[in-house]
Amino acid sequence: MKKPAHHVFVCASFRLTGEPQGACAKKGAARLLQYLEGELSDRGLGDVAVSSTGCLKVCDRGPALVVYPENWWYGRVESEAAIDAIIDSIESGVPAAEYLLA
Ligand code: FES
Repeated sequence: MKKPAHHVFVCASFRLTGEPQGACAKKGAARLLQYLEGELSDRGLGDVAVSSTGCLKVCDRGPALVVYPENWWYGRVESEAAIDAIIDSIESGVPAAEYLLA
């Protein structure tokens, strides 16, 4: 098994008690996840894995995602332009400051 160089965890608002109904899901996280997967593929970034995950506990700043191993936490990822900037950050090694959570 080839391990990914980067792993993006996208909040899908999963909760232990049922359906994903949290902030990120309501703000279109699933659509952005699809766009992220497609854009990574288009750019040939096969070493970037993507997983949907449970609530990252930054709901008020969602949609949220985390990039590892960089440990970059991003919030307000509400557009394809935001996803593009985050993928750019993975490629360049420089975080997308506009979306970084403190
Ligand atoms: S639902 Fe996404 S951070 Fe809580």
